[in-house]
Amino acid sequence: MSTQTATQRAFNFSAGPAVLPESVLERIRDEMMCLPGVGASILEISHRGAAFVEILHGTRDRFRELFAVPDSHEIVFLQGGACLQNAMIPASLLTDKNQTADYIITGAWGKKSAAEVHRFGNLHVAWNGQHENFCRVPAPEELDYSNQPGYVHSTSNETIHGVQFREGPDTGGAPLVSDMSSDILCRPVDVSRYGLIYACAQKNSGIAGLTVVVIRRDLLDRCDDRLPLYFNYAKHVAGDSMVNTPPTFAVYVLGLVCRWLQEEIGGLENMHSINNEKSSILYDMIDNSGGFFRGHARQQDRSIMNVVFTTPNEGLDKQFLDEAAKANMITLKGHRSLGGIRASIYNAMPLEGVETLAAFMKDFASRNG
Ligand SMILES: Cc1ncc(COP(=O)(O)O)c(C=O)c1O
Repeated sequence: MSTQTATQRAFNFSAGPAVLPESVLERIRDEMMCLPGVGASILEISHRGAAFVEILHGTRDRFRELFAVPDSHEIVFLQGGACLQNAMIPASLLTDKNQTADYIITGAWGKKSAAEVHRFGNLHVAWNGQHENFCRVPAPEELDYSNQPGYVHSTSNETIHGVQFREGPDTGGAPLVSDMSSDILCRPVDVSRYGLIYACAQKNSGIAGLTVVVIRRDLLDRCDDRLPLYFNYAKHVAGDSMVNTPPTFAVYVLGLVCRWLQEEIGGLENMHSINNEKSSILYDMIDNSGGFFRGHARQQDRSIMNVVFTTPNEGLDKQFLDEAAKANMITLKGHRSLGGIRASIYNAMPLEGVETLAAFMKDFASRNG
């Protein structure tokens, strides 16, 4: 990065698209005019050419290694965002309209996912936290599953409400489907427990345009010819994620992010400790503010990615956001449905950014408390 643009960079707490590691941005800049040995930019080359096929395979291999995806599962790179998965999953995994899918709704994204199911089969809500304004995840005994659901869907991290499962719920044998859009790669996951994992890349693993799907191979048998081509996971697997033009640049960026996690961070165990450290700094500040700051999520279900809180009133929330922006901390505004403040502290948010925000919070509380 040129010194000028680098020094203009703020601490960016955007919920997504979100902050990227600086070394990834630097590499993109260095290779933008010409990929080494290729003679053209990543933006200019064919997805069928050897150079891009090598990038795609390299990215997939790195992702498999980093996320410890077992051989029982396939990885595909898709477009359409996480929202397309809301339809693709019931369309593919429910084999007929009489089958039922169970949804655990812990926030706005789970609610949105559940809303697509009726087009393809029956929806059964196994738990819904809306009456408590989505401030927690359910205890195992609160889950009310239907008889032999086609699958059980949950949202690993609710980006708007800042509520996160510590680990995926037990489904009693039904395939567990998880939307990990806002916390994939934030910690190690036992992928073998999941039937399908999906995540858009623009929060914790790269840029908009790419959605990664990890699917257990036996579930591919449910994808048959009633499905449109793009909805068919089996076709994407057979076509090497190239049944149409993949989002080439976003695949390249995911590869760089995986490399950063492996080579600079040292893997997902390390990333998890760093994320715990960063989120604890902000939650401790909230808890020790004498009630000035109030966190949204119940303590044990707090997200280590999206820290959602308020000050004593809306006027102070606004003042907080204005002053933070002047102090070089941007996009801290809470989602419009919830208000308040949301600090998204994805993997690429440096510790220094969180410490700067915590110091600002302390000062703000002492001036306005
Ligand atoms: C948990 C979660 N699921 C789904 C989405 C939707 O993703 P997309 O905009 O890529 O469809 C988002 C964010 O936008 C999200 O945070």
